[in-house]
Amino acid sequence: MVTIDVSLLGFELRSPLVAASGPMTRDFASIKRLAAAGIGAAITKTILLSPSTNPQPCLHRGKGYFLNTERCSTIPLARWLEDELPRLRTLGIPIIASIGMTPDDAAELAPQVVDAGAQMLELSIFTGYDDPQPMVEAVRRVKAAVDVPVIVKLSSNVHDIVEFGRAVKDAGADAVSAIDAVKAGITIDPVTGRPALLQQGFGRVSGEAIKALALYNVAQLAHYVGITIIGTGGVTTGVDAIEMLSCGAAAVGVCTALIVDGPEKAARMNEEIAKFLNEHGFFSLDEIRGRTIPQIDFPETTEERQEYEKRQVQATDRTAVIDQGMCIRCGVCRRVCLYGAVDERDGGFVIDPERCKACGLCVSMCPVNAIDYKEMRR
Ligand SMILES: Cc1cc2nc3c(=O)[nH]c(=O)nc-3n(C[C@H](O)[C@H](O)[C@H](O)COP(=O)(O)O)c2cc1C
Repeated sequence: MVTIDVSLLGFELRSPLVAASGPMTRDFASIKRLAAAGIGAAITKTILLSPSTNPQPCLHRGKGYFLNTERCSTIPLARWLEDELPRLRTLGIPIIASIGMTPDDAAELAPQVVDAGAQMLELSIFTGYDDPQPMVEAVRRVKAAVDVPVIVKLSSNVHDIVEFGRAVKDAGADAVSAIDAVKAGITIDPVTGRPALLQQGFGRVSGEAIKALALYNVAQLAHYVGITIIGTGGVTTGVDAIEMLSCGAAAVGVCTALIVDGPEKAARMNEEIAKFLNEHGFFSLDEIRGRTIPQIDFPETTEERQEYEKRQVQATDRTAVIDQGMCIRCGVCRRVCLYGAVDERDGGFVIDPERCKACGLCVSMCPVNAIDYKEMRR
């Protein structure tokens, strides 16, 4: 019998899926629907001392990505404290209150939202490109003020997320959530040139398009910082969640997929996670967590990390090989091979190791994963 529960900062979650801060966690009613669909925990829309106003429009679904200019919560603090947070405690899932945007604001808000029922806090602190100090100050002051786990939301829009991760860990943060939506993108109407997000024109990018970026940032935080991570960004299926855990996440944040496909998406993703474990002979997510980290060639020094493309590449001798038992003879590998290394033979396809450069294109495009690499010994 497989189990998909995880532990997060002393809380037992029935699913690794955490509703990331966003419109689907805007109030009690919307989080209640997520809880009914089996979400593991929820992070509220970021609560401020004074409510935000959103540009109109502020949401746009593009092909394989999402754009938004949504600001923080539009609900006044008093309603969060008197109504939303106390009711959220009745749902039976851990509730994480997201608070922002300055260290002063966070220090003032933290004890109030904890008194109202928040079991953990996520700090969404505005910082510049290269200065984690506002986050550091916020962590110190919030940790001094409350006795619940404190998570810091990290963004990839900084010169070095590892430096930010280390700084908040040293300041006493219990965990990080990474990554935030990415700054920034534009969608336009090709006929008129009018931007979809009329008022601002550009918006933060989330959804499928940022998954690879999110996995890299999460893996870096896991390897270099060694802190509990809610891995977030572009997760839209149960298998995406498995990948996020493989890169070292303790739990998996989901925002855009729940907006686009509705709260019931959480139930389908939970099923996909359990199915994956069953099909591949795993019993729990602990067996999956972090297994990608030792397989990544992380540069050692900060300098190498920031300029990794200057590093010398160790020459290897590999070829791609088609598993004839799995091949469906679709011919995609032959069509995409840049080096003309795929030959048609007896109605099927074979790769000539002399011409193959093991560039990886056919491996990644084979629809049935029938191609893998083989080490050559010449
Ligand atoms: C419409 C929208 C609103 C968001 N609002 C917040 C917010 O209030 N606070 C916050 O910390 N992150 C916010 N986020 C960022 C998400 O929590 C998440 O980090 C990001 O979207 C990446 O995950 P995803 O690809 O699953 O959406 C928002 C994202 C979207 C799309």
